[in-house]
Amino acid sequence: MHEPNHSRIALPDEAATAAFAVRLARTLRPGLVIYLRGNLGAGKTTLVRALLQALGFAGRVKSPTYTLVERYEAGGLHLRHFDLYRFRDAEEWESSGFRDEFDGCNICLVEWPEQATGLLPPADVSLTFEILQDGREVLLHAYTDAGQQCLNALPPDIPRLAAVAALRIRRDRHQLGAYLAGAGLHRASRWNRNNPSATTCSPSRIRNVW
Ligand SMILES: Nc1ncnc2c1ncn2[C@@H]1O[C@H](COP(=O)(O)OP(=O)(O)OP(=O)(O)O)[C@@H](O)[C@H]1O
Ligand SMILES: [Mg+2]
Repeated sequence: MHEPNHSRIALPDEAATAAFAVRLARTLRPGLVIYLRGNLGAGKTTLVRALLQALGFAGRVKSPTYTLVERYEAGGLHLRHFDLYRFRDAEEWESSGFRDEFDGCNICLVEWPEQATGLLPPADVSLTFEILQDGREVLLHAYTDAGQQCLNALPPDIPRLAAVAALRIRRDRHQLGAYLAGAGLHRASRWNRNNPSATTCSPSRIRNVW
């Protein structure tokens, strides 16, 4: 990797977190492993929830606090949302099939990765959330070429994306579509639907993604 492999983004309020999620959703590719770090209440689940909504997922996004993992299909992608805060038993890694979830196809978003050190595959990207007096800050770090490509592909942080995210929070999908069309943008889910490599995941397709 020759480019700077980290950056920092201010997230003054929840709408800013959602706007960041909209941008991040457009960069996701099958197989990415994304660690989500930060204290309790730092905003990790908020980010995942907004990310799934940006991909077009319309259902409820529960925190996997007790289930440890929740599974989603959205925008032609398979996503796994782990929260390993309560993960204790290393044998559960095999017996619950967690190892199998990291198959080079699923996008795995992992809260509290430090709870499964030595079991988890390494991250392509880590997002570290810090709680500030006003809002949050997120530090983005790429560890692999795939992770660097993901961060390089982040669309610019234009202020109106915050408005888009705010609309999204209100779950006014019709209004969001009209707004995006007016702004010359497209929902990530639409982009992924038009991207054949995002809809079916096999090793050969993964190689073609980039
Ligand atoms: N950028 C932000 N600025 C201010 N508040 C935020 C921001 N992002 C999220 N929040 C709020 O902070 C809280 C974050 O809760 P969330 O469940 O996302 O945290 P978490 O990091 O997943 O915690 P846990 O480790 O317990 O799972 C929510 O109440 C949310 O509304
Ligand atoms: Mg959480």
